[in-house]
Amino acid sequence: MTNPRIEFDPFSDTFFDDPYQAYARLRDEAPVYFNQTYGFYAVSRYSDVVAVHADPERFISSYGVTLEHLLQRRSMGTNMMILMDPPEHTRQRRLVSQAFSRRAIGSLEPLVASVISGYLDGLAGRAEFDVVSEFAALFPVEVISSMLGVPEGKRQQIRVWVDTMLHREEGNPNTTQEGMDAALHLSGYLLDLTRSKRAEPDGLLMTKLIDVVLEDADGTGHHLSDEDVASFAALIVSAGSETVTKLIGSGVVLFDQHPDQWELVRADSAAIPHAVEEVLRMHPPSQYQGRYAIESVTMDGGTIPAQSPVLLLTGAATRDPREYDHPDRFDITRGGRTTLAFGYGVHGCLGAWLARLESRLAFEGIASRWPRLSVRREGLERVNMSNVAGYSHVPVSVG
Ligand code: HEM
Repeated sequence: MTNPRIEFDPFSDTFFDDPYQAYARLRDEAPVYFNQTYGFYAVSRYSDVVAVHADPERFISSYGVTLEHLLQRRSMGTNMMILMDPPEHTRQRRLVSQAFSRRAIGSLEPLVASVISGYLDGLAGRAEFDVVSEFAALFPVEVISSMLGVPEGKRQQIRVWVDTMLHREEGNPNTTQEGMDAALHLSGYLLDLTRSKRAEPDGLLMTKLIDVVLEDADGTGHHLSDEDVASFAALIVSAGSETVTKLIGSGVVLFDQHPDQWELVRADSAAIPHAVEEVLRMHPPSQYQGRYAIESVTMDGGTIPAQSPVLLLTGAATRDPREYDHPDRFDITRGGRTTLAFGYGVHGCLGAWLARLESRLAFEGIASRWPRLSVRREGLERVNMSNVAGYSHVPVSVG
């Protein structure tokens, strides 16, 4: 179980550049891995990651979902859904889930399509541009902010706050001072906005969340406080912007490396939803999820003692050969099981249908405008964030 020869350091500046060999060794040699330097456990096989996701009673989220928080070994005490446990989590999730159902998100297609076209049209005629910094980083926050009812002039400010919050300095796993200031600005701004929506409802998502009431079996009504609505808005602007950005950046790089797969997309846009799932499987934007074990749990590969931080290595699970044939092969016709990149179980991604819609429309927009984009590999740059992995810069030339 303890295997000091395998180097898995999620705080390293370079680990997520190419974690796949280390992941393979973890799956084969230390499926329940213990990291002695930091004192956390990690599971990497598909079946184990699913099992932990499916057990929110013993593997809780309220002690944090990123390693730097889990290592503090205490409850975070927040009203953000991703950091709550059942039954409080269940109640919050029921209050917001309708707005993110497949059907509700489907009705947003015209809005999302017009935001995406607006950015892509702005790149028309250019011989070179950066797919991430000039497109994929900009539009997801615009979409979520429009859904929430954030005024147009503030939407990119929100993205800057979120980027600053998530950025990590080399060698330091914690939020920077600027990041903490940005988090305060963001939460203060969203709380003020919630109050103004209560005073002047606009029918958009924040107003809907202020109004929503859910009755228990005994007739008790539940609703969200202003603080709950503001926290939820802060969660979705951060959970929903960076991840979609990374998916599109990784997708463009994968298609550049595999022109045959791009030809499939160009020949038939019906292939795009499958391509999105395959990009997510190859490079999950969120490389790990975190939990805290409150009881001792024995799995095939060993025992995780009570009171342990546990990482669920999503990026390793989606390449597990026990689950996928030729898992390192990028094959958009693969089909089959949906990837764990959106998590699984009670905390499974609330925004999955929105992310799929945005990514489908983004790749459709790219494919219809540019028959071929060539990635200038020397210009690729990656982000340095906690569990979010992917590119901050993907420069391309057209043709
Ligand atoms: C490609 C894009 C995305 C990926 C890869 C992704 C990934 C994930 C994952 C892995 C989780 C599970 C976290 C855990 O188990 O601790 C999650 C949860 C969540 N995601 Fe996403 N996400 C994406 C897009 C979005 C979008 C667009 C939104 C905006 C609404 C969103 C909102 C959320 C929320 C609110 C949760 C917490 C759900 C809960 O705790 O019940 N995500 N996401």
